[in-house]
Amino acid sequence: MTMAPQDFLPGLAEWVHGLDSVFPGKQVKPWFAEWEVGHILSLIVLGGTSILLNLRLLGVGLTDEPASELNRNLRGWTIAGVVGIVATGLLIGSANAERLYTSEAFAAKMVGLLAGIILTFSVTLPATRRDGELGPIARAAAVVGLAVFAVAIWMFAAAKLANPGLWHVIFAGALIVLFAARGLTRIVYLGGLAVLLAVQQVMTNVVYRWDDYAHLDPTNKAFAWVFTAWIIAVAIVQAVATGRGRESGPFVKAMAFAAILVWVMTAAAGRWLAFA
Ligand code: HEM
Repeated sequence: MTMAPQDFLPGLAEWVHGLDSVFPGKQVKPWFAEWEVGHILSLIVLGGTSILLNLRLLGVGLTDEPASELNRNLRGWTIAGVVGIVATGLLIGSANAERLYTSEAFAAKMVGLLAGIILTFSVTLPATRRDGELGPIARAAAVVGLAVFAVAIWMFAAAKLANPGLWHVIFAGALIVLFAARGLTRIVYLGGLAVLLAVQQVMTNVVYRWDDYAHLDPTNKAFAWVFTAWIIAVAIVQAVATGRGRESGPFVKAMAFAAILVWVMTAAAGRWLAFA
């Protein structure tokens, strides 16, 4: 079973087929590349603000200013990033709709977008506005956002040919934890990553030949799980060890971590839909 939009919404096939010959798809098509630049610029704004605000909740990055000050300076940009990426996405999407309709990566990306919006508006913005505090309704919404994010990851993992894009998400998670971890935890964590990387290289270049996909695929998938487990384990140790810290507690920190990764995942699915 595949999980592309055409599998969920088969009745839309004809409408999707004609989208690039009516407004706005027809007008956007000759300028696709220009509009796509707008898509990427919006991603830079959204990704940049998301990283700055959520790292602040993790207690790293721009720590000289209170989180609420960062929120005042960046919330407009965050909202502009979300609006910009959806608006430009809909425009380039209308000019290239058939490709999206048949793409499993695009379906994962849309679920990721939903999770990203929930996490941004229930964690990133309210928690920074209140210097790390989060009320019960926002906490409940954050858990829903996390569950939707898990569904998006599962769909991305099932998207054939696009699923190697999940390595971007693992890599981003590894970097965030490296940035947030302190002292001995950081050294042990980095050592663990180095060992895993070395063993993966030996397994996939020495033990198995470069074209032995029957062995390489399951080996790389197993390493994806081991890397993920290692990164999450150290993230938990770090969040618990720093406790409530100066501002946010472990719950908000875990959600801030997810609130960065959700946009990385959505962007990775956006890029990898071109390869499937
Ligand atoms: C309604 C929402 C969206 C729609 C309809 C949409 C649509 C598209 C389309 C049509 C493409 C071009 C694909 C291709 O021809 O290869 C694309 C690319 C891309 N999208 Fe989106 N998108 C949306 C939201 C997002 C979001 C929220 C993100 C990131 C957080 C994102 C990140 C990307 C990236 C990174 C690319 C690849 C650009 C490139 O490599 O040239 N998109 N999107």
